[in-house]
Amino acid sequence: MQAERCGLTAPVGLVPTMGYLHEGHLSLVDAARRENPTVVATIFVNPTQFGPQEDFKRYPRDETRDLKLLETAGTDVIFIPDPAEMYPPGYDSWVDIGGITARLEGAARPGHFRGVATVCAKLFNITRPDVAYFGQKDAQQVAVIKKMIAELNMNFSISIQPTVRETDGLAQSSRNSYLSAAERRAAPVLYRALSLARERWQTGETDANKLRQLITKTIGEEAGTKIDYISIADNATLEELTTVKSPALVSLAVRFGGTRLIDNIVL
Ligand code: PAJ
Repeated sequence: MQAERCGLTAPVGLVPTMGYLHEGHLSLVDAARRENPTVVATIFVNPTQFGPQEDFKRYPRDETRDLKLLETAGTDVIFIPDPAEMYPPGYDSWVDIGGITARLEGAARPGHFRGVATVCAKLFNITRPDVAYFGQKDAQQVAVIKKMIAELNMNFSISIQPTVRETDGLAQSSRNSYLSAAERRAAPVLYRALSLARERWQTGETDANKLRQLITKTIGEEAGTKIDYISIADNATLEELTTVKSPALVSLAVRFGGTRLIDNIVL
């Protein structure tokens, strides 16, 4: 890949993924396609960002389908590294971004962002992008990658694309494939609850606790849901707010049976 990179026409747009692609991923490829002569996509289910009890082994994979989708979307280079090549025996170099990784997803999934930052740093070094494309769906990941790029003086820009949703509002995610039929019917409650909070805020409610309660109550009305967290935080520092001050990130993680889904909106 590093040799291939030398022959590519700049600017190069990079779309890192873990595969099992859906329209959310493809919207990143489309944006990269519009804005760069060369598009590089990566598919790598990164073992270091999964906790020991998490779904690394059963994470959905379909390389043949992914390759077709990426080719149709106009991807020039698809990089699919081997885990043993990314992390050979004795591998022990890590990128630890402080502060914001202690909260939300970082608190719920210890070590997750160390794995994400490390693999992204490696993919950035290998592909040397001019622009890297990420989805707002993973808002904290965006904050972590932005902080890493700024603080480690990485010399390229990052472009954030809006969350792509199903027609009923459910954010597209590779993990939606885990949902049973009943869970799938319940799952749109996440975006419904976020949208309700946005409406309430737009009509003057700035008490963050009241908005958190509204989201909690709305999700609780759907049977079989278990809330991990409901957060209304400063969009940059991810510190919890008592009074909503724009731009505020409203984010949540909720379990539907064994499947944990995340979603967010920005006020
Ligand atoms: P993955 O979950 O495959 O997501 C790859 C990219 O697609 C991420 O930037 C993610 O935010 C974006 N994405 C996912 N669902 C989306 C949606 N519904 N709308 C818009 N964008 C969406 O995120 C990862 O992989 C990994 O952590 C990775 C960055 C590849 C590092 O391993």
